[in-house]
Amino acid sequence: MTSKPLFRVLAPVAPAMADDIVQIWFNDQPLNVPSGRSVAAALLAAGVQRFRATPVSGAPRAPYCMMGACFECLVEIDGVPSRQSCLVSVRDGMRIHSQEGASDLPPMSYTTKESVHGR
Ligand code: FES
Repeated sequence: MTSKPLFRVLAPVAPAMADDIVQIWFNDQPLNVPSGRSVAAALLAAGVQRFRATPVSGAPRAPYCMMGACFECLVEIDGVPSRQSCLVSVRDGMRIHSQEGASDLPPMSYTTKESVHGR
């Protein structure tokens, strides 16, 4: 018995967007994903199922709400820990790592340019 994918693209990608592929890296593995998606959506569509591990038990976690409410999608993006991947858009060359256990908050200098929510 095969399981159905949890998420799927609802509409086909428009031809103009089909060429708009960016390369991101997740745990040092390259992934080619369509631009304009959130990091969480791109990783889920690429088959990533484990985004972080809980600080206490180490249980695997993955995005749940996809709208910034649950914090299950935390990853390290370009060296900045605790980013909500559902609120950050993919960018060519972006380096993403799963977050293992507790992590520091993003540095204050980072939050002056952009909030931790990517806005
Ligand atoms: S998936 Fe819930 S905050 Fe990102």
